[in-house]
Amino acid sequence: MNPPADHARLAAWVNEIAALTDPDSVVWCDGTKAEYDAMIRLSLEGGLATPLANRPNSYLFRSDASDVARVENRTYISSKSQDDAGPTNNWIDPVELKATLKGLYANSMRGRVMYVIPFSMGPVGSPIAKIGVQITDSPYVVANMHIMARVGKRVLKVLGKDGEFVPCLHSVGKPLLSCQDDAGKWPCAPLESKYIAHFPEDKAIWSYGSGYGGNALLGKKCLALRIASVIARDEGWLAEHMLVLKITNPEGKAKYVAAAFPSACGKTNLAMLVPTVPGWKVETIGDDIAWMKPGKDGRLYAINPEAGFFGVAPGTSTESNPNAMKSVARNTIFTNVALTEDGDVWWEGIGYDAPGKLIDWKGNEWVQDKADKSQAPAAHPNSRFTAPVAQCPSAAPEWEDPNGVPIDAILFGGRRPSTIPLVTQATDWNHGVFLGSIMGSEVTAAALDVKAGVRRDPFAMLPFCGYHMGDYFAHWIRMGEKTPEAAQPKFFLVNWFRKAKDGKFLWPGYGENSRVLKWVFERCDGAGKAVETPVGFVPEPSAIDRPEGVSAEDMKELLTVDQAGWQAELEDVKANHYPKFGAKLPKALADKLEAIKGKL
Ligand code: OXD
Ligand code: MN
Repeated sequence: MNPPADHARLAAWVNEIAALTDPDSVVWCDGTKAEYDAMIRLSLEGGLATPLANRPNSYLFRSDASDVARVENRTYISSKSQDDAGPTNNWIDPVELKATLKGLYANSMRGRVMYVIPFSMGPVGSPIAKIGVQITDSPYVVANMHIMARVGKRVLKVLGKDGEFVPCLHSVGKPLLSCQDDAGKWPCAPLESKYIAHFPEDKAIWSYGSGYGGNALLGKKCLALRIASVIARDEGWLAEHMLVLKITNPEGKAKYVAAAFPSACGKTNLAMLVPTVPGWKVETIGDDIAWMKPGKDGRLYAINPEAGFFGVAPGTSTESNPNAMKSVARNTIFTNVALTEDGDVWWEGIGYDAPGKLIDWKGNEWVQDKADKSQAPAAHPNSRFTAPVAQCPSAAPEWEDPNGVPIDAILFGGRRPSTIPLVTQATDWNHGVFLGSIMGSEVTAAALDVKAGVRRDPFAMLPFCGYHMGDYFAHWIRMGEKTPEAAQPKFFLVNWFRKAKDGKFLWPGYGENSRVLKWVFERCDGAGKAVETPVGFVPEPSAIDRPEGVSAEDMKELLTVDQAGWQAELEDVKANHYPKFGAKLPKALADKLEAIKGKL
């Protein structure tokens, strides 16, 4: 594909980066199937990919053992002022960081091809979508971007002669010297020279040294969350770490629900849930990110900016998530899962024992030994599948609607063995923001450097907010002030993970969560029986049908507001959580905390 000479700024940036990184050649990506196939062919020839026998057009990649996940301690929000990045982001002065990175990028693509990927986050041309252009020296990244975003010519067409784009620079940081190749080795740089840098004032992303996931597929966490959160603040909308689902009742009436959960709370499972409530239907709009913009009627309209799922494989099974399993039956890239002798994939929690001798994610022979409780897993715990949303059987027909879908309810959740009821409805917008600001999961002191207790992850945005979290809360409060009450979504705090005194989960989760979604649906219609408590509206025990195995006692416990637990919760928020945000904590949230404390 010829360079789009008519976009001068884009052409100049590409030339500047080519001069800096010195690749063998520059290729403009057109987004065609032939191009995808070429990336896979290169990966096969380089010994980085393995074709899978029973899944058409699907491949397994194994990364380097040092490059298996997002590197949060190497991720920077490099705003001019450290105060704008806030206390929860790593910060380096942008002048200093750019100098360091330019040193690293110098000649970093020698011996490699530099790919230029124009991509759209959101349906191409949607008024809510944004365009990025990623430069990368990784064919693996190009192939993944084909699945995760809309890429190629059609995007350049929308960009025109001087359209806005977010420049996203990526290099694996492993130049090839003459007569050398990767010889089947995943290219990356050592941890201490990996940088995932964001420049909020420039709206630019510079990533160096990692080829994995959110470090390298820059449309996802870097653009669609960290940079988009800054753009959204400035433009008056919301870029959130939320799934979006559609729920339809037996009469055919539908509602749209967005939901934020920290990692490892089953977000993808909820997005693709198969309801157990007869006659009800759940469909998927997105499983990770939602961009929500006020429409003419004041309501928030959400799009899924992504076109694919980058889902965690372990734990995904026909039982836990049949729609995800069907989504990965073909046209899927697997990374760091195990390979079976007959050329299929396997991972822990796939729902059946490992068949015979496997090759584990490190490339070594591996035979399951169920007696050995300390056996290292065959698949890396953060092994992934990259699959198109369009292949998901539960994808809603309107999942790509360029105008988005109107959000009726917003859910916050986390893993909370105690205190937090199965579901609580906020009394108003600011109460909803309060619940989002204190959400989190309970952790046990499994590692020496982890203190047991609630690890709070406000709005599940702690690793993904591109500016000061206190300003982010204020932006949410402002959005509420601008949204007419009748157009506001209802807010809920959910907790699928409450435990009985004997340590057993009180709620079965998975498809049974549809019973909670049904109550959420009813509450949005002003129905659904509830009792008002100091912490919000909780369902009357009869308002949620009990699933098999949940006794009336369990249900009572699940819906109990634990006064002492909540008092301790609020004390913790007041003493340990809110002070982190200093003077930037909105008064509305401090007031909400006091108001609830007063009621308890
Ligand atoms: C993800 C994450 O990978 O949130 O989606 O960590
Ligand atoms: Mn996520």
